[in-house]
Amino acid sequence: MTLPMAYAPRPTFQGNRAMPHTHPTLRQFLLNEYRTHGTEKDLVFLLEDIATACRVISSRIRNGSFEGELGSAGSTNIQGETQKQLDVIANDEFESHCRNCSRVAALVSEEVEEVTWLKQRPVAGDYVVYFDPLDGSSNLDVNLSVGSIFSIVQLAEAIDATDDRSVLLPGSEQICAGYAVYGPATSFVITTGYGVHGFTNHLGHGEFRLVSHGMTIPEETEEFAINASRHTRWDPPIRRYFDECVAGSNGPRGKSFNMRWTASMVLDIHRILTRGGVFLYPVDSANRAQGGKLRLLYEANPMAMLIEQAGGRATTGRERILEIQPESSHERVPVIFGSKAEVERIECYFREDASGQAEDPAT
Ligand code: AHG
Ligand code: MN
Ligand code: MN
Repeated sequence: MTLPMAYAPRPTFQGNRAMPHTHPTLRQFLLNEYRTHGTEKDLVFLLEDIATACRVISSRIRNGSFEGELGSAGSTNIQGETQKQLDVIANDEFESHCRNCSRVAALVSEEVEEVTWLKQRPVAGDYVVYFDPLDGSSNLDVNLSVGSIFSIVQLAEAIDATDDRSVLLPGSEQICAGYAVYGPATSFVITTGYGVHGFTNHLGHGEFRLVSHGMTIPEETEEFAINASRHTRWDPPIRRYFDECVAGSNGPRGKSFNMRWTASMVLDIHRILTRGGVFLYPVDSANRAQGGKLRLLYEANPMAMLIEQAGGRATTGRERILEIQPESSHERVPVIFGSKAEVERIECYFREDASGQAEDPAT
């Protein structure tokens, strides 16, 4: 891996030899962002606290069977979904670590119905943290990977802490977004608006170290992710895209596609950030009344920022995710994320469906 000049090997005294740092720690990386981009120190500390929360969650998941922490918590969240014990544990870890930062005004979590206000009088410059503490938690009981998603908005002005609608800010206001993957290794991937960077938890060192600087999504792809069991419920543009992909080299796309579905958006997006692809969770006849499946504030918005920072595209099919004005804390949206050329093609299919006019998807 070629590292940018800012991470040029620094000599470390090791007997007579200079030993290069090939993988800067998260702290070294963030302090470099502070020096080069003016990233606030409080944001550096907050991100370190979130990274610690993710390391703790990773350990709780790995040892969940021994601690009796797998399985249902016996409660439901605001979405009406059964909460797993680890959903609740992960939520508490996020909350307690975010409380370390005195500039966090409020927390918005998938697992908590109301906004958790940490400041009575939030002022301009304070942070609001949005998170899905465990994404793909249905994977837990079968020992498949899961993840966490978060984003941070910096308030442009003072807001009213007695009104939960104060935190309904569009994704374009995010100053930072990221996720963790609890897989064979624990990954931590972040953007503060200057590219997307991936870290891996080094088990021996007990800290995240940079492994992927400037992750980018290839424009073209031959891989897509969608829950195809919902095929009969999809709207025509989605069905058209899917049918053209599975038609393979004899179909209109003239090439073969591969399909992957992990039941955890974090994992699917991590794969797309690594080798390209497109992820779709569209609105369909079964979820139309709810507006889709994935939640705008703590699932779609953070991923949209990461995808765009990596050179991809993030849309509902009809509008850019980051420009949506939220109307409630747990609202849902259709999402289409990934390689630019593929997402533009799907947007074109939506326009054609609305207008009845054929377009050239390549233009
Ligand atoms: P969560 O576990 O936070 O509720 O999110 C699960 C989401 C998303 O991550 C995933 O892509 C999707 O639900 C899976 O949906 P299906 O049940 O349709 O596979
Ligand atoms: Mn989720
Ligand atoms: Mn979740």
